[in-house]
Amino acid sequence: MSRIMPVTENAIAEAVEILRQGGLVAAPTETVYGLAANSCNGDAVADIFATKGRPQINPLISHVSSIEMAKRYVTFDPLSLSLAKQFWPGPLTLVLPLKSLERDNIHSLATAGLPTLAIRMPQGVLGRLSALLDRPLSAPSANISGRISPTSAQAVADDLGDKVAMILDGGQCEVGLESTIIKVDAGEVYLLRPGGLSAEEIEKFLGRKLHRMDQRAAIQAPGMLASHYAPNATMRLNIDEVQEGETLLAFGATRVKNAEKSVKTLNLSPTGDLLEAAKNLFNYMKKLDAVGAKTIAVEPIPERGLGEAILDRLRRAAAPR
Ligand code: TXA
Ligand code: MG
Repeated sequence: MSRIMPVTENAIAEAVEILRQGGLVAAPTETVYGLAANSCNGDAVADIFATKGRPQINPLISHVSSIEMAKRYVTFDPLSLSLAKQFWPGPLTLVLPLKSLERDNIHSLATAGLPTLAIRMPQGVLGRLSALLDRPLSAPSANISGRISPTSAQAVADDLGDKVAMILDGGQCEVGLESTIIKVDAGEVYLLRPGGLSAEEIEKFLGRKLHRMDQRAAIQAPGMLASHYAPNATMRLNIDEVQEGETLLAFGATRVKNAEKSVKTLNLSPTGDLLEAAKNLFNYMKKLDAVGAKTIAVEPIPERGLGEAILDRLRRAAAPR
């Protein structure tokens, strides 16, 4: 079994040593748990893909501990820089042009050979590991590719088992949804993936609308596969009644028809709070999946604020596999 270790100074020092030697460490961020390796070590990055069973065409996010560290590797345009200054550390990833490849630079496996790098400064332990190693850390969510992202150390262990040497346990993730991915191109701001920082909040700060990308635009975010976050059960979204043998993922104070028929019900947020719902989403999907029922029925969720990202994840979980 992999070792789940509470976040202590000793555990952090050991994790940094594992990373220095080219190993993998699972560690929490405010969004989800990441499976981290030194972005500059090709063998270590290759090991991330192997461990997750992730296609190598799908590039990774590099995590840094400061804007200064990011500037060693990428070039900031003024809009991206203002977003980083406003929202880092936080659940925001920026896709930025890589500086010319040099020794000591990000390994091309981490970017799938793209001339750009997805980069963010997270809250939580992962940023501290990056600071101590003085290197960016490539980290996708610490789950088998295509499955539900982990928001607790136990969820990482359930999925990756003994495939990872150490899991740092920082408790339940505060945000619970992956970061929002933004790309600035010729002065226009594109939302490549809705996530833990709502598009509305970014729009309010910038004083302008984001361009929504067609999520199937493979060139923009190669990892945005239609089917993702998939539980074993099928998902039925935006339901108006529960059918025989289904579990129910509820939201808000009012229930759909036949709610009492559900095998098991979990409410993402009884008060209808989208922040709370985001935090519970993956955890509750896992819990309902564990019941073994064929279908998880999901009540309607409003598309405002974090609802956009929640619905994005639910649609992928419901997509044909
Ligand atoms: O919150 C998060 O973002 C978590 C934590 C661990 O930081 N990480 C995460 O990574 O969700 P992952 O690998 O599941 O998603 C990374 C996404 C993929 O959709 C990938 O295609 C996209 O980022 N991506 C990576 N590099 C890119 C690039 N250069 N241009 C466009 N998209 C990129
Ligand atoms: Mg993932």
